[in-house]
Amino acid sequence: METVLLTGGAGYIGSHTAVALLEAGYETVIADDLTNSEAGVIDRIKTITGRSPRFYNINVLDAAALDRVFEENEISAVLHFAGFKSVANSVKDPVGYYKNNVGTTITLLETMKKHGCGRFVFSSSATVYGCNNPIPYTEAMPTGSCASPYGWTKLVSERILFDAAVADSAFSAVILRYFNPIGAHESGLIGEKPNGVPDNLMPYITQLAAGKRDILRVFGSDYPTRDGTGVRDYIHVCDLAAGHLAALDYSRGHTGAEAFNLGTGRGVSVLELVRAFERVNGLSLPLEYAPRRPGDLAEYYADAGKAERVLGWRAEKTIDDMCRDSWRWQKNSENL
Ligand code: UD1
Repeated sequence: METVLLTGGAGYIGSHTAVALLEAGYETVIADDLTNSEAGVIDRIKTITGRSPRFYNINVLDAAALDRVFEENEISAVLHFAGFKSVANSVKDPVGYYKNNVGTTITLLETMKKHGCGRFVFSSSATVYGCNNPIPYTEAMPTGSCASPYGWTKLVSERILFDAAVADSAFSAVILRYFNPIGAHESGLIGEKPNGVPDNLMPYITQLAAGKRDILRVFGSDYPTRDGTGVRDYIHVCDLAAGHLAALDYSRGHTGAEAFNLGTGRGVSVLELVRAFERVNGLSLPLEYAPRRPGDLAEYYADAGKAERVLGWRAEKTIDDMCRDSWRWQKNSENL
């Protein structure tokens, strides 16, 4: 069976994908410096799957360390999850964000070339569609006008991959544009664990439900949406993980660079998500309306048709599944 390298494999999306890969029989190598994750995740991946990923505690910017990973393992493909992901921090430290998010893409490409590895699956974001496209977003739409340096780091990395695929006709890049991943593995052993006060909606909701926050501030109640609050395409992280397996299958024999939306194709408002969470988990959440958050769009969701047609993948889990699994993880994570 193939050996796959997951950079950032101890993180939220990376760890769920590692589980899916191990369960499908792949050998996995994780390279992660644990800046936004913890070593215990590696053990918990083993508890869930009964199989161990090989783990390197390295920074992907460290070319010599990355070289050793390729020396010691026969890597056939790379899934590049490692990266900084806070929109707010990217505004404060744009240079650091470019250095890390673009720099790791470059060290990986150089090291892969040296070792004859030509399959790259990239964690991109729907934020590359910017603020001028109609919804739903299709992959053919123009990218750019990103709302943050974080968004631009993703778009610049995409650009590098498209150019690399032109220069090397044997190279394959599958670019996955994630919508809003939430939920957690149903074991309750892995999930999203943000540092400090969460910026994103679902981790904020679960911390509120756990009594760690006082009230949810709903950013904007006057958007031109069905209930005035922002609409997003929330996707269960396990569906997202399955999308990576489909991308990996596709990249075998594929050349060139190609982008795919990983979303459900359905928009859900902030209030709808809150109400679903309350109903499914039998809880009541205090909320207040607050001004719009700068940089937020009113509404966007994926046209998920291309991934279904070409990759043979589509999201299966419901908003109720996402709410149930996020809450189970929140409660369980306090004892880990
Ligand atoms: C954000 C990033 C996006 C990134 C994604 C990762 C911005 C502008 N965009 O997306 O680039 O790829 O996270 O998942 O930050 N909300 C509240 N109260 C809160 C938190 C959020 O009302 O306390 C609302 C937001 O206004 C939005 C929705 O919830 O309408 C979702 O917000 P969030 O989870 O932060 O994701 P995005 O902003 O869509």
